[in-house]
Amino acid sequence: MAKMWAGRTDGQVEKIADDFNSSIRFDCRMYRQDIQGSMAHAAMLAAKNIITQADADQLIDGLSQILEDLDGGALAIDMECEDIHMFVEQVLTQRLGDVGKKLHTARSRNDQVALDIRMYLRDEITEIAGFVKALITAVTDKADQYADAIMPGYTHLQRAQPITFGHHLMAYAMMLLRDLDRLADCKKRMNMSPIGCCALAGTTYDTDRRFEAEKLGFDGICMNSLDGVSDRDFCAELMSDLSILMVHLSRFSEEIILWSSWEFKFVELSDAYTTGSSIMPQKKNPDMAELVRGKAGRVFGDLMGLLTTLKGLPLAYNKDMQEDKESIFDAVDTVKMCLQVFAPMVATMTANTKNMKRAAQTGFINATDLADYLVKKGLPFRSAYKISGQLVALCIQKGTVLEELPLSIYQEYSDLFDNDLYKDIDLQTCVEKRISEGGTSTQSVKAQIQFVREQLG
Ligand code: ARG
Repeated sequence: MAKMWAGRTDGQVEKIADDFNSSIRFDCRMYRQDIQGSMAHAAMLAAKNIITQADADQLIDGLSQILEDLDGGALAIDMECEDIHMFVEQVLTQRLGDVGKKLHTARSRNDQVALDIRMYLRDEITEIAGFVKALITAVTDKADQYADAIMPGYTHLQRAQPITFGHHLMAYAMMLLRDLDRLADCKKRMNMSPIGCCALAGTTYDTDRRFEAEKLGFDGICMNSLDGVSDRDFCAELMSDLSILMVHLSRFSEEIILWSSWEFKFVELSDAYTTGSSIMPQKKNPDMAELVRGKAGRVFGDLMGLLTTLKGLPLAYNKDMQEDKESIFDAVDTVKMCLQVFAPMVATMTANTKNMKRAAQTGFINATDLADYLVKKGLPFRSAYKISGQLVALCIQKGTVLEELPLSIYQEYSDLFDNDLYKDIDLQTCVEKRISEGGTSTQSVKAQIQFVREQLG
């Protein structure tokens, strides 16, 4: 069939070229935004006397009927069409005749597609933000449950200092809170209307871009028509934000995978979020967490793909830009799936607090507190650090721990040591004394939980 844009050419495109050129397979998901945008456009054309009110009414009724038919299944999207914009206009013209042909006055597919993506993505951001909030709630509730469960904190994956599991979990809540903030910020810049930029240069018609923008819920308009149709920053920005979010989910996944291993045995995932092995009957694999970790790479790839597509493009629209949609849609779909599986996985995860505590009891993670004890008694920190290190070496040599070493031995290293040292190096004390804001004491973790809950409102 000849194209609606047949003009200079007869619009007969070779099948293989037509398939290659077509984007309806993936842009059909924007049909609602496309129709809403067109309705606002028709209203603007009438408000500015570019078409009659009677024509606009017919167009708007026709468009809302198409929307209803698509929603209800009475109308199927014709995958032979070039893209969703052409499809809607074609159906409208079939149904209304010549009036349908008036819709495309004072606009181009270039500003139309830019409009549709922005409208589509701003709704996706709202949905993603909702999923992030649900995950933050799950993480925070879990942290509350384990606000005083002692575990080793690590640096270099070596046991470092005692912390609580609640504290560790709240670190992820803070990351996710920043993700929420980034998404809101991205939406702010995205919510500017490109419609009315037309093909690239604006239009000779006396249009009202702000009327249309306001009708569609935008906060403002793109102020340069060339930029308005060439800008895909909002896609790159959203994918950057989603990539950072996936970094967080991936690190969290990595820890959940480690903690679920026999070597750690710190947490147990609910059976519902694990799988078995087809050959090894004893296995309970953390597949969901592994997949999230894997999918992080996929989202980064989507971002890199779009950046690479955009980097050499001259102004204004180039067909290369049609490649924006598959990557941004994939990133959005992937992140939504990950978030939806992650929240219940965390909510149903249980901690093995005994194993955590046991791990905390070896590894000399109270050595800093032993040094701090001497500092409190007047020794400079460097000297105290040295003595504490020597005592750790002695324990390793004797196969014991700091808690078990007799006072007489301590006193061989410093006469500042007294019986009260044992209280100071008790893990419970080590944790509870870290009352600095953001620290690991139960009191501080509870304050973090309260802070996050307040942020969520
Ligand atoms: N399907 C195109 C896209 O997704 C729509 C814009 C087409 N514009 C054009 N001048 N061919 O980018």
